[in-house]
Amino acid sequence: MNSGEEALVVEDAVLRFRGIVAVDSVSFEVGAGTTFGVIGPNGAGKTALLNCISGIYRLDQGSILLYGQQIQHHQPHRITALGLSRTFQSTEHFREFTVRDYVMLGRAQQARCSVLGSLLLWPIAERAERAERQRAMAVLDRLGLVEFATERLSDLPYGVQKRVDIARAVAAEPKIMLMDEPTSGTTTSERDAVSHTIRTVAATGVTIVVIDHDVDFVTRHCDRVLVVNYGRAIGVGTPKEMLGRPEVVEAFLGTPVGHSA
Ligand SMILES: Nc1ncnc2c1ncn2[C@@H]1O[C@H](COP(=O)(O)OP(=O)(O)O)[C@@H](O)[C@H]1O
Ligand SMILES: [Mg+2]
Repeated sequence: MNSGEEALVVEDAVLRFRGIVAVDSVSFEVGAGTTFGVIGPNGAGKTALLNCISGIYRLDQGSILLYGQQIQHHQPHRITALGLSRTFQSTEHFREFTVRDYVMLGRAQQARCSVLGSLLLWPIAERAERAERQRAMAVLDRLGLVEFATERLSDLPYGVQKRVDIARAVAAEPKIMLMDEPTSGTTTSERDAVSHTIRTVAATGVTIVVIDHDVDFVTRHCDRVLVVNYGRAIGVGTPKEMLGRPEVVEAFLGTPVGHSA
């Protein structure tokens, strides 16, 4: 569904790494409340593009507007504060966290508990923490993950870890979420569960920008897709339009449909 407002406008984005042009004059728009896919072969510049949007990489040229605000010079935390949240490719560093605590991490920016505040005002801090825990549980409940709340991330199947990471990003109450290959490395049934989680998030009106190798996934979930190859945009349109183009099919030769590398 498109409310008419653009959540994200990328104009003539260029990102270079020494000799490589990872993102080469890419322009596209993402309507608020829509799910937007980014597809292309390995090394096409998909992750680099998402990293520019979340502020990890700085564009060499071009502009990025998030809800009408120029963000191409912003630090990641300022972009987060504007309502952007992202998932990670790996939760490896948080293996020992319980699911509930990991999801509470997603609220770090919202939960305004300073260390000094926690010491001086411990009853208030304790109440605030209880409220945060309840909020994390509410997100887990909404995404069908409550049964895993007290389990350690490392004890869970990979597909569930991927869904928990989406829950962490949702806990930040974002307006727009970036997901880099949320179904990579998952089995077919896990992929269906991750897809269902993404669809649940999309149904709440959150704008989603998702990179995925799986053409089938993109076709089913995305309103529009951007196809990139060698850093360049081959085209933007509905999945049907894009996958009907010979140059798009050609870009995917060697990357079988349904394959997640
Ligand atoms: N931090 C980096 N330093 C140097 N080159 C990079 C860096 N990140 C990505 N690249 C290069 O930019 C290009 C695009 O990479 P990437 O965005 O990771 O591709 P994709 O996500 O589409 O597989 C590749 O040629 C890659 O080697
Ligand atoms: Mg990538």
